[in-house]
Amino acid sequence: MLLAVEAGEMLQDALPRTLDGAGIDAREAALATELVYGTLRRTRELDERLGAATHRPMGAQRPPVRWLLRLGAYQLLFSRIPPHAAVNETVALCARWVPSARGFVNAALRSLRPGPGVSALPPWLRQRWVSRYGRLGAEAMEAWAVVAPPLTLRVNRLRASRQEVAERLRAAGHAVRPTSWAGDGLRLLGAGRVQALPGWADGLFAVQDEAAMLVGEAAGPLAGRRVLEVGTGRGGKLGHLYERMGGAGEIWGVDSSEPRIRAAQATMTRLGHRGVNLVVRDAREPWPEREGWADCVVVDAPCTGLGVIARRPDILRRIDPRAPARHRVLELELLQAAGRLVRPGGLIVYAVCSLEPEEGESVVASFRRLFPAYRPEPAREGPVPWEHFEVAPGQYASLPYRDGTDGFFIARLRRDPERESAPG
Ligand SMILES: C[S@@+](CC[C@H](N)C(=O)[O-])C[C@H]1O[C@@H](n2cnc3c(N)ncnc32)[C@H](O)[C@@H]1O
Repeated sequence: MLLAVEAGEMLQDALPRTLDGAGIDAREAALATELVYGTLRRTRELDERLGAATHRPMGAQRPPVRWLLRLGAYQLLFSRIPPHAAVNETVALCARWVPSARGFVNAALRSLRPGPGVSALPPWLRQRWVSRYGRLGAEAMEAWAVVAPPLTLRVNRLRASRQEVAERLRAAGHAVRPTSWAGDGLRLLGAGRVQALPGWADGLFAVQDEAAMLVGEAAGPLAGRRVLEVGTGRGGKLGHLYERMGGAGEIWGVDSSEPRIRAAQATMTRLGHRGVNLVVRDAREPWPEREGWADCVVVDAPCTGLGVIARRPDILRRIDPRAPARHRVLELELLQAAGRLVRPGGLIVYAVCSLEPEEGESVVASFRRLFPAYRPEPAREGPVPWEHFEVAPGQYASLPYRDGTDGFFIARLRRDPERESAPG
């Protein structure tokens, strides 16, 4: 998995691809997952320690040796695995991958020593966050980035209540509590494989972070409405929108990736959500049949993902200082295209799992210059205390270290029929 990530595969794809066919039991799969995630979250610190132990920069090692060293070092420095087992297992793995490096790996791991903490963030990102959140805030973001976040479930309210699902999970021995901000969520501690939880096969819930649930909540009441999501992916938020519509109305999900639309179809089937329209298309292209059609368009734009690095630590391996500005281009294009799909009086909810201003506030400002008919509209309804998240009228941000959620930016933009002179 680590080598696949090094070669450019996303961890969220490499993980199931590898574990599903591995023929190992749930506990071994959980351990493998924790080791891979931990090694990726702590790579910078591991490299520092290993560099000191081997007197060579880690960049000079061949990839399999580099990853074996990191995997072994992670176990020695950050896990409760007994040191002799960590070293022996790593050397045994080395015998399979690079037999000639066995002695070197063994010696390097045995001379490994703990040292002062090293930031998990690349220096440019650390500097960026110090400027924005202050030194203490940036440190809190770093502390968040290296710890596994809790597993959060969104209860499928069309099939069960939050209370019912919580009781069922507790009866199976799981520690569960309601989410702090979102109305449909449950938090689990030490849950293991989600597919093994009671109620999974019956579609009683989906895995979704609480901040992602706020996106669905920001769409306001949806029963009987025409709803369209741009960037549906595997259908996380689309399922929530369907549930909030009460299954009444018309719903479309659009994504440019065919495999993701197929995955979204499977998600809808498992949850029992019928009649969802899923389309593979580039949402930047004109769509004349849908212009002025939707009551609500949710734009879940592909972003840097800097608000979800605790869940997807491989993101830090690919990111560079220009990434936020680069992502901004596609984000604005998708928002512009969405601006044409909403009917006068309808709503756009724009969301990114990043707190970088280029991808949030700045995209909204540029969009409003191009589409003056849209005005920000504060959210008022539902269980969410929106004032807590408000960064500007109609704009919201969840802060991981403050809120215990992923970092999301969300904006609500209403197409005002009275300012309709020149849309687009
Ligand atoms: C943030 S992810 C979506 C996550 C998903 N909505 C969920 O809640 O699980 C953004 C999605 O936008 C899609 N995307 C990227 N470029 C696109 C384009 N030009 N048109 C449509 N979808 C696009 C990506 O394939 C990706 O699935």
